[in-house]
Amino acid sequence: MRAVEIKNLYFKYQNEWVLENINLEVEDGEFVAIVGPNGGGKTTLLRLMLGFLKPTEGEIKIYGKPPKEASSFMGYVPQYTSFSLDIPITVFDIVLQGRLERGKFFYSKKDKKKALEIMEKLKIKDFKDRKIKDLSGGQRQKVLIARALVSEPKIVLMDEPTSAIDPKGQKEILDLIESMQITRVVVSHDIKILLRNVDKIVYIHKKAVIHEGPKLNIPKDKHFCEVELIEFLKADECGI
Ligand SMILES: Nc1ncnc2c1ncn2[C@@H]1O[C@H](COP(=O)(O)OP(=O)(O)OP(=O)(O)O)[C@@H](O)[C@H]1O
Ligand SMILES: [Mg+2]
Repeated sequence: MRAVEIKNLYFKYQNEWVLENINLEVEDGEFVAIVGPNGGGKTTLLRLMLGFLKPTEGEIKIYGKPPKEASSFMGYVPQYTSFSLDIPITVFDIVLQGRLERGKFFYSKKDKKKALEIMEKLKIKDFKDRKIKDLSGGQRQKVLIARALVSEPKIVLMDEPTSAIDPKGQKEILDLIESMQITRVVVSHDIKILLRNVDKIVYIHKKAVIHEGPKLNIPKDKHFCEVELIEFLKADECGI
C-alpha cells in the first residue's frame, strides 16, 4: 500500500498561502529528502502529514488513512526539541515516551524491552540513566530518533535530524537512516543528504518540485563531496 498520498494540498495559517497545490506520492519503504529555503513550508508540510494541522484545501492519506487515524504508525523527530533541558528527565524516560498512546499511563514490560532494544541499536544504552541535559547535541538527537522509532512505526518523519551535529555524528545519523527499511521522509538543509540513496527529492518553496533521487553511483573508495555533487548536477538544474 502507498505510504503517503497528498492531493492538491493548499495551506495557509492566516491570509497568505504557505503551501500551494502540493501533490506527492511516497511508496512503502521509500527514502524521501525534503529540501528548500527557510520559511519554504517544510515543517508545515510535516505537521500536516502528522495531523497536527488541517489542510485548508486538498487531501492527505497516510497508508490509506487520514493523518489523525494514522498516528499509531507514524514516528516524528521534531526540528526543535520540545522538552526543557532543565527538567531532570532521563534518556530512558524520553525514549519510553514514544510508546505512550492516548489514554495509557503505564509502561509495560514490553515497552521497556523495546526501549532498551532501540537504545542498544543506536548505541545510546550506556546513557540510559543520564539526564538529557548531560548529553552532547548529537547524543540528544539520537535519543529523539530512538523515541520516534521505539513504537516500530511504518513511517518516520524527521525534521533536520542532523542540524547542529558534527560531521562524524551526521554521518552516523545518515548511515542509520539509510539503513532503515521503513518509509522515511527527512527534511534537511544539508545537501549531503542528496549523496545518499534517496528515492525522491522534494524541493519545497510554497510549491513543490519533485525530482527522482539521482542514482549517483558514487565510488565508495574515492573522495566525493558536495563540490563534485554540484558539478554533477549542474546539467540538471530544476530552474527554480
Ligand atoms: N504557527 C504559525 N503561524 C503563522 N505562520 C507560521 C506559523 N508557523 C510557520 N509560519 C510561517 O509559514 C511559513 C513556512 O514555515 P515553515 O516553518 O513550514 O518553514 P520551513 O521550510 O520549515 O523553514 P526552516 O527551514 O526555517 O525550518 C513561514 O513563512 C513561517 O513564518
Ligand atoms: Mg522547518
